[in-house]
Amino acid sequence: MSKVQLGVIYGSRSCEREVAIISAVQLMRHVDREKYDVIPVYIAEDGTWYTGSRLLNIATYINFVPDGGIIPVELDLHAGSGALLKREAGKGPFGRPSERLAARLDVCVIVMHGLHGEDGTLQGLLELANLPYTSTGVAGSAIGMDKIMMKQFFRGADLPVLPGTWYTHTRYLREPEQVMADVREKLGFPVFVKPANLGSSIGVSRADDMASLRDALDLAFSYDRRVLVEKGLDKPTELNCSVLGYDEEVTASPIEMPITSEGESYLDFHEKYLRQGGSKGMASLQRQVPAPIEPELRDRIQRMSCDIFRMLDCKGVVRVDYMFDRKSGGLYITEINTIPGSLAFYLWENAGLSYSRLIDRMVTYALRAHEEKNDRSYAFTSGILSSAALGGAKGSKGAKG
Ligand SMILES: Nc1ncnc2c1ncn2[C@@H]1O[C@H](COP(=O)(O)OP(=O)(O)O)[C@@H](O)[C@H]1O
Ligand SMILES: [Mg+2]
Repeated sequence: MSKVQLGVIYGSRSCEREVAIISAVQLMRHVDREKYDVIPVYIAEDGTWYTGSRLLNIATYINFVPDGGIIPVELDLHAGSGALLKREAGKGPFGRPSERLAARLDVCVIVMHGLHGEDGTLQGLLELANLPYTSTGVAGSAIGMDKIMMKQFFRGADLPVLPGTWYTHTRYLREPEQVMADVREKLGFPVFVKPANLGSSIGVSRADDMASLRDALDLAFSYDRRVLVEKGLDKPTELNCSVLGYDEEVTASPIEMPITSEGESYLDFHEKYLRQGGSKGMASLQRQVPAPIEPELRDRIQRMSCDIFRMLDCKGVVRVDYMFDRKSGGLYITEINTIPGSLAFYLWENAGLSYSRLIDRMVTYALRAHEEKNDRSYAFTSGILSSAALGGAKGSKGAKG
């Protein structure tokens, strides 16, 4: 049997590009080569797509120079084609440019964090191209990425979230003093200030008074037009749970408790990725798995994580993060990551599922979702076109009822 051509798409124009590169190279090393041919598809900072085996080496990305077998490609958007095309310049002054097939993808693993990849945009492109892909779909990815919409979604579903409020940059520029007074009145201090559409703690900071609030807002607005301000907890216990599945097959992983260094009050970018040299991405964070918590709390978190997975119609592997306030016993959802750092493989390894088998499962779900979508009927023939006479006849105005 011929091997599955597994496209691994990663990088992208996002603040979290480097984290995605680490997650992707790590994943590509664990793919079962008996079953799959790995085709790296790297989207560089300028938006150019590249393929080539040298992309499997992490050193390639330090001062990235696309030569020596790294070629620029474009995805053929014809539904179902899956072709990665290399455009070639025409020969001679009158030669016409041509396209050459560089690779053909059967299924795509998306390893993106943040904008242009985790947020539904790439998922939308792949839906249009009718290619199977491993992550959550367009709507779930978009809601999961936007911290303001996500909070409103969870609140609407009666799930526990911390109180929060949000502002646009336009309003903040127009009336900074009122915005800050509004935060103090609605939430008090401390608060956490976050760009709506980022991750990896980039642009996130804690404010304890009006002066630090101004700094926090300025920082967050340098990353996003919209900013969430959330009531802050003092050194909460962070608990994360991964969920794997699709449709009615949904399983929660053991729960991890990330550990912050002495003196650090929250998990900033440095704590998440750089404490152990950074080479392992999220897998290098200090953590305890399984988290030392009561079975009731564990069961509640796992149940809630599976509910959230279903509500957002997730697919593949996600991670839902929580904060537990030991003083009050309150549990709050921090966020969902629809493409978690290192694909949360370390949590599944702890549950006895190797990274290679985890990738198999993600691919199986991607293929099943694709098949189910294509099995649905797209052919509703109304005859509206043939009965519509041009030039004002009944039915030709296309009123959408
Ligand atoms: N309301 C809060 N109270 C206390 N700590 C918080 C709060 N919100 C975020 N944090 C800390 O900041 C980190 C990053 O926040 P999060 O919302 O998860 O953003 P990101 O998407 O960048 O990971 C969390 O892991 C936690 O350590
Ligand atoms: Mg987080």
